Amino acid sequence: MSRVLVTGAAGFIGYHLSRLLLSQGHEVIGFDGLTPYYDPELKHTRLALLRESKAFSFVPGMLEDDALLRKMLADARADIVVHLAAQAGVRYSLEAPFSYVQSNIVGTANLLEGEVTAVGGETLSFRVQGLGSLTLPRPDQPPALGAAALAFRPHQVSIRVRDEQVDASRLWLNGRVESAEFLGEFSRYRVRVGEVAMVTDQPHYAGLAMFAPGAEVRLGIEPTQVRFLEC
Ligand SMILES: NC(=O)c1ccc[n+]([C@@H]2O[C@H](COP(=O)([O-])OP(=O)(O)OC[C@H]3O[C@@H](n4cnc5c(N)ncnc54)[C@H](O)[C@@H]3O)[C@@H](O)[C@H]2O)c1
Repeated sequence: MSRVLVTGAAGFIGYHLSRLLLSQGHEVIGFDGLTPYYDPELKHTRLALLRESKAFSFVPGMLEDDALLRKMLADARADIVVHLAAQAGVRYSLEAPFSYVQSNIVGTANLLEGEVTAVGGETLSFRVQGLGSLTLPRPDQPPALGAAALAFRPHQVSIRVRDEQVDASRLWLNGRVESAEFLGEFSRYRVRVGEVAMVTDQPHYAGLAMFAPGAEVRLGIEPTQVRFLEC
């Protein structure tokens, strides 16, 4: 059983994920700022339901509060971090663009930074949802502020995932298409890479071939943009 830190645990997806994890016997540490983007009462109700489980604990706070976030990460001692706290929605970004910059860019950089600086020695480790731990050589230069994001850019470091080498901006893995679904502006593929199944959405650019089930593909993935379904 794992200790899972779920940011955005009072939100729509974070709440349902937390419930699922608790029902599977995992410990869940929820983190959420209970922002007023929609009625916070709903978030309080979700938290009350999660608190019915003794395996759930909650830390209120905003991602932008770097000091709080670091303390929370250190205290949580989580095996896995699932980052779902975010300013969601598309239309609202036209009204309040800086809310997105703060929550989604500054806040996420704070979270990654906290994760990375918590690890010492010659390597950095981080977890990608469900994939487990990736171990990266520490960059030559000491990380500066916000360097966690940089550290994950493969032009700064070399990453190995199950002995697969990485190119300039992506992890390149050999996969086999299990299913392909045409969804208008993009196609959704379920691709198997060894023991891992993942879903990836591919926009339709002119001239790009659709991959049929059974096709062997070279899959270039950005670590933060993949949902791993099973390991
Ligand atoms: N719901 C969907 O259909 C959907 C679809 C695609 C992607 N997503 C993405 O999944 C993520 C979660 O979506 P959701 O539907 O659960 O959204 P949500 O708004 O219900 O939940 C997000 C939670 O994060 C918290 N939060 C927001 N900013 C915060 C901050 N700066 N610090 C701390 N907490 C903060 C909010 O209080 C909220 O409880 C978002 O990134 C969203 O864009 C959602």
